[in-house]
Amino acid sequence: MRTPTSYDAIILGAGGAGLMCAAVAGQRGRKVLVIDHADQPGKKILISGGGRCNFTNIHTAPDRYLSANKHFAKSALSRYTADDFIALVNRYDIAWHEKTLGQLFCDGSAKQIVAMLMDECPAETVTVSLGQSITNVRHGDSVYQVDYGDQSATAPSLVIATGGPSIPKMGATSFAYEIARQFRLKIVEPRPALVPLTLGGEETLFRSLSGVSAPIIARCGKTAFREAALFTHKGLSGPAILQISSFWRHGEAVKVDFVPDLKPDWLTQLKREKPRISLSSAVNAHLPTRLCETLLDRIALSGDLGNLADRKLEEAAHRLSHWSFMPNGTEGYAKAEVTAGGISTAELSSQNMEARQMPGLYAIGEAVDVTGWLGGYNFQWAWASGWAAAQTL
Ligand code: FDA
Repeated sequence: MRTPTSYDAIILGAGGAGLMCAAVAGQRGRKVLVIDHADQPGKKILISGGGRCNFTNIHTAPDRYLSANKHFAKSALSRYTADDFIALVNRYDIAWHEKTLGQLFCDGSAKQIVAMLMDECPAETVTVSLGQSITNVRHGDSVYQVDYGDQSATAPSLVIATGGPSIPKMGATSFAYEIARQFRLKIVEPRPALVPLTLGGEETLFRSLSGVSAPIIARCGKTAFREAALFTHKGLSGPAILQISSFWRHGEAVKVDFVPDLKPDWLTQLKREKPRISLSSAVNAHLPTRLCETLLDRIALSGDLGNLADRKLEEAAHRLSHWSFMPNGTEGYAKAEVTAGGISTAELSSQNMEARQMPGLYAIGEAVDVTGWLGGYNFQWAWASGWAAAQTL
């Protein structure tokens, strides 16, 4: 091992948060080392948004994030906003478009975002060291020392930016939590989020609908999302389900409204207008055929509307708008777009992400217990938290 090289800050992880932090600190004249075990920076950026990176959301607001402390993200999000990131993207002439619900994507490729972030890191101040295993991290005499590969570095500041364990095959690890525990920072139990839900038991039958999608409202407790759902060979996915999965806990039901635009009495009203229409035609007018057949099969009701009692039709309409699924799990970290939970916000300053009890230690991005909705919110948190930490490194 060589004599340690000294820096102003060492950043562990060259993902979205780590690169933003390095770029801004480097531009402030700080000598920064970024270490990552991956052979490329920003690997999750590259695969995000189907290769086009949903890099922010114009509706970014603290209420679009889950955290044990719902106020924690306010400061960072208000000081580095979606508009700030859009201005940066525009400065690099990266063409973009709004896809839906305020979600901004590159017209071209996510590679442009990674290239931009790397370009933002001044060569004179920022060193990015890739393909390096971090073998040891220690602290003494107000200095952090990191051993990596066959080298060693020291700095008065250390930033944990190694994300969460979702998608381990891309090199994601729980390293952030190991370092946090080493320095006695509390962890909010991590769990897969923005993840497909699995169905078992009686509900295994729904797997035969694999590939069918429908616009729905998914509810869990008081939270609801109106977007598409997709049946899979394991259970349920699609944006509405991914969104609700972040709020779902084992043993809870997910309620699905399959007919979100219809009033509770729509079937009895239709009976008055068209008594000869069959229940299946009535429902099929609003739902894909295979889904309609499966749902009506389970409701166990058929025939012309005119021949069915109002009470039965009201019950059927109610079930279609309050379908209760009891997921038996999720597809886990292998399929989770993010990890909810993580380094407790109670340990960190919301101003600059520095640990209250461990001066010079910072945590940013997905490693922290702040998790955004689907739709560019997680990158905006990575940029904003990275920027906030960089102000005081
Ligand atoms: P991130 O995980 O990006 O970076 C951590 C870095 O640390 C990685 O480079 C990793 O190699 C490194 N590392 C980990 N362990 C290490 C170790 N032990 N030693 C050294 N280095 C280590 N969000 C969004 O807003 N819009 C989107 O379109 C998408 N799309 C999307 C698609 C898919 C498939 C996934 C999996 C995720 C998304 N996300 C997303 C979520 C988004 O990718 C995520 O929230 C951010 O990348 C988090 O940024 P961080 O920098 O915190 O972690």
